[in-house]
Amino acid sequence: MNKSITYSCPSNIALVKYWGKKEGGVQLPANASISWSLSDLRATTTVQVSPKKAASPQLAFLLDGIPKPSFEPKINNFLKRIEPVLPFLGEVDLHISSMNNFPHGAGIASSAAGFGAMAMALVEAEGQLEIGSAAFLQKASFCARLGSGSASRSVYGEPAIWGLTQSYNGSSDEYAVPFTADIHSDLSNWMDAVMIVDAGEKSVSSTEGHALLSEHAYAESRFDQAQKNLNEILSVLQTGEVERFIALVESEALQLHAMMMSSIPYYMLMRPHTISIIQEIWNYRRETSLPICFTLDAGANVHVLFDARYQEDIQNFINTRLLSYCQNGLYLCSATGGKPEKL
Ligand code: DP6
Repeated sequence: MNKSITYSCPSNIALVKYWGKKEGGVQLPANASISWSLSDLRATTTVQVSPKKAASPQLAFLLDGIPKPSFEPKINNFLKRIEPVLPFLGEVDLHISSMNNFPHGAGIASSAAGFGAMAMALVEAEGQLEIGSAAFLQKASFCARLGSGSASRSVYGEPAIWGLTQSYNGSSDEYAVPFTADIHSDLSNWMDAVMIVDAGEKSVSSTEGHALLSEHAYAESRFDQAQKNLNEILSVLQTGEVERFIALVESEALQLHAMMMSSIPYYMLMRPHTISIIQEIWNYRRETSLPICFTLDAGANVHVLFDARYQEDIQNFINTRLLSYCQNGLYLCSATGGKPEKL
């Protein structure tokens, strides 16, 4: 087969965090999580498939047009994991070229968007499922998960739930599902401005961080807490209780970092400017009562979440009170809720 398939896939930001993997499985989450897609922070990935020329399949990977052999072991591992569900991979060579629409070295993880786009292109290349159908998206999510857990949530435009939970019918540890309930208008159109506090490489990767949960003294209570928070956030998204939403999202971010700080060995990814930004957000919210809050992923950058109806005010707040804490004044703004696109 000779095919060239391109997908653009959004990154995502978790509201309830995936932190810790189940023992005895491959990339199964210890608790269920939910995220918003980040419409304007995307990876665009072209997968070219051709019949294999040597005894074993060959891979070439380019990032922003530049060959990146250092990424190939991770991608080969991903391809090996998904070959049982995409057996054609044993018969083809792959040339994969990926581009992010946000600057490199911004300290923003691109693996969720990148594996999401790659998985969608590979599932389409197999040609077994109707493009964009529920079964197609589920299989793409299943495959993306085997590249990076959070990537499983990047194949949907709706809020995505990954991990088996009694709070949502049809949920699974093996793939994410879209949250299809009607979202209240006060929570259906939020934006994310990512304050780049530290553009450098993280001292401890997410994968290493997850592994530290297996011996963590507080792991079980964290997983219980995540389950309760997920259950509540699913209801809050429908009722539009914004104050409760804010409390849950900020608590999730701080619990994630509290788990890092109480791992053995302990570590800290927040930086002084991370804390300053959080305090500015709390002050501003007290002063204005506007719907704005923060979340964090596994790094120092701060995601400022806010209702898009107040974009002008919040843009002004960012410019006057947050930009000085950003490395080189850099921040990236995105709408939420965008879908992947086939190009
Ligand atoms: C803090 O998905 O990057 O962003 O599955 O090992 O690739 P791997 O980890 P990854 O972990 C993301 C963790 C998080 C929270 C989240 O996105 O839910």
